[in-house]
Amino acid sequence: EGVTVVDHPLVQHKLTLMRDKKRSTKGFRQLLNEVGMLLAYEVTRDLPLEPVEIDTPVATMQAPQIAGKKLVLAPILRAGVGFLDGMLTLVPSARVAHIGLYRDPETLQAVEYYFKAPSDLADRLVLVLDPMLATANSAVAAVDRLKERGARDMRFVCLLAAPEGIDRMRGAHPDVPIWTAAIDEHLNDHGYIVPGLGDAGDRMYG
Ligand code: PRP
Repeated sequence: EGVTVVDHPLVQHKLTLMRDKKRSTKGFRQLLNEVGMLLAYEVTRDLPLEPVEIDTPVATMQAPQIAGKKLVLAPILRAGVGFLDGMLTLVPSARVAHIGLYRDPETLQAVEYYFKAPSDLADRLVLVLDPMLATANSAVAAVDRLKERGARDMRFVCLLAAPEGIDRMRGAHPDVPIWTAAIDEHLNDHGYIVPGLGDAGDRMYG
């Protein structure tokens, strides 16, 4: 409950290509971009519409448009940025919040180094983006900060999740539903998702 696994064949196929350790940096980055597009399509599937009056060349009509203010894409740096271009291709008017967090390799705690968000988060749907949900320390910290800044309506989008991370995130922020392409087996002692795909940030950026 609150967790949607996007099992679309294109997403599953691309994820398999990304897991392969032989995939190049260039290939990995391009695939993450493509999957970002497909996940954006799925996570926006139920957005409410409202009628607007327009003139076609032939007649006046009531036509549907997405209700409310433009949404906000909130990538967690660095790896979350890999989703950004693909999602902006589908939602070109979205606002963007940048959240800089790194995971301390010893404690696995999320450490903030950057935060810049639009001021009117309270009125917008915010999509928090990070390919990996491992311990969920990063995701929980990002949502804590966004809530502090007024965000009320959020969805978390990832590529891969560990069951431990899903439990933690659902416990800490039950009001934030999760979209993921897959739920893997477990976390290892270093906080890596198994079988996973390694460190997404390193695979994208080196
Ligand atoms: C990795 C990954 C996620 C986070 C997931 O980031 O990209 O942001 O860890 O782990 P968690 O759920 O246990 O918090 P990392 O700290 O390696 O930074 P990077 O994205 O800049 O490489």
